[in-house]
Amino acid sequence: MLKIFDTTLRDGEQSPGCSMNLQEKIEVARRLESLRVDVIEAGFAVASPDDFEAVRAVAEAVGDITVASLARAVKNDIDKAREALKNAKKPRIHLFLATAHIHMLHKLKMRPEEVLARAAEMTAYAKSLCDDVEFSAEDATRSDRSFLTEVYGAVIEAGATVVNVPDTVGYTTPQEMFDLITHLKNTVKGIGSVDIGVHCHNDLGLAVANTLAAVKAGVAQVECTLNGIGERAGNAALEELVLALRTRGDFYGVRTGIDTRQIYLASRTLSGIIGIAPAPNKPVVGANAFAHEAGIHQHGVMANRATYEIMRPEDIGIPSNKMVLGKHSGRHAFESRLAELGFSLSPDELERMFERFKELAGRKKIVADADIIALVGDKTLEFSDGYKYVRFVVNSGSTIPATAAIKLVRDGVEQEEASTGDGPIDAVFNAIDRIVKSDFTLTDYSLRSITEGEDALGEAIVKLKMGEVTATGRGLSTDIIEASIKAYLNGVNKLLLHKSG
Ligand code: KIV
Ligand code: ZN
Repeated sequence: MLKIFDTTLRDGEQSPGCSMNLQEKIEVARRLESLRVDVIEAGFAVASPDDFEAVRAVAEAVGDITVASLARAVKNDIDKAREALKNAKKPRIHLFLATAHIHMLHKLKMRPEEVLARAAEMTAYAKSLCDDVEFSAEDATRSDRSFLTEVYGAVIEAGATVVNVPDTVGYTTPQEMFDLITHLKNTVKGIGSVDIGVHCHNDLGLAVANTLAAVKAGVAQVECTLNGIGERAGNAALEELVLALRTRGDFYGVRTGIDTRQIYLASRTLSGIIGIAPAPNKPVVGANAFAHEAGIHQHGVMANRATYEIMRPEDIGIPSNKMVLGKHSGRHAFESRLAELGFSLSPDELERMFERFKELAGRKKIVADADIIALVGDKTLEFSDGYKYVRFVVNSGSTIPATAAIKLVRDGVEQEEASTGDGPIDAVFNAIDRIVKSDFTLTDYSLRSITEGEDALGEAIVKLKMGEVTATGRGLSTDIIEASIKAYLNGVNKLLLHKSG
């Protein structure tokens, strides 16, 4: 069984615009658990107190899954990783050290023999603290092959359980990757006793192809992220890898333990949290991935789906609408739809989500599955404390300046402010700023509709920045100004929570 190592919370989260707070990371980790990934890389413990806390909290939140923390090949990093993983049932320290000439010369300023010695020494140190140690030779695909053979041999001797081959800059090609893995299998001492992993970036759009080539060459573990998020052009996308292996099982001949029916929900949960939807034509999880537009295709699919569909939407958990939900639907219907969509909520959460559903059903004729996923998918939309809006009024037009007044409540105290702005959204955000009086800036704002039709649910996403901290706020409503207010307050509350925590 091929092992799936998910690094959404580490390599994914460290990429621009994808940062998540603690609660959001735990939410994603729970989705990864439902997917049944084998390893969750929860962060880089030494990088910041937030990262440390994330590794610690994820390790506690998930069940029987290996949880890894990244660490440079230095003692302090390893100590921090181990400490953060203290309560993990299956902890793994993931060490990395660059082996490519350009990195050793310019970044590490170390000679190859020093790198070799450091790799072995730090692997042995990590091993003294943790049974499961993964070693990554950073930029392996641009490293000298005989040097790589030496380094991997040395870390295996020092106790590594996984040797990982990263294509750090997305430079390699499928054939080259196949040859490299084959070469390592034939030359590295002790390689038969450990797992070989692969970690590919997507700079040339080859991350998934390169990973699959490594699978063909016999690696035991693949590293990937949900929706392919990650540094620069991203990492190999989990959903693409898993579906390629499943759909072309005849060719690859390996299986994964992933519950593919959880993929859609996991992807939507992540995109809701980070406020970045996959491109519409993104394989597997893009909005058009299963849409047939051309007449000939539609005709074929109607006659027999297999004519133009190599995967079925329901295989990845895209629900087929059997039952329509609306304002007359009761709790039971709502609850069973949630279960079909893959959600398992506590009685408390269910109660709150049912209220949200009823509120939406009062405004919209039909509540589609996409609406439910948007409503429930990101539980972090809710804050028990923080600002909530009581009411708002906006006035705008082509011949008058936009004005807005808003009343907010926090800890039982109501405050009201008014402001003008460059349009109604700007005016209402300015009015909120006057109440909140904190030093943050709006760096991005977007609006999209979740479903089709005039009464579609709108989703507003804001990105706010306060010092070094960024927060993504998300708000849903059939009214776009209300959706924007909710998103803004969601972002503000996240920032304030971060400040006070
Ligand atoms: O891309 C890379 O080389 C990495 C390593 C730390 C595995 O992310
Ligand atoms: Zn990486």
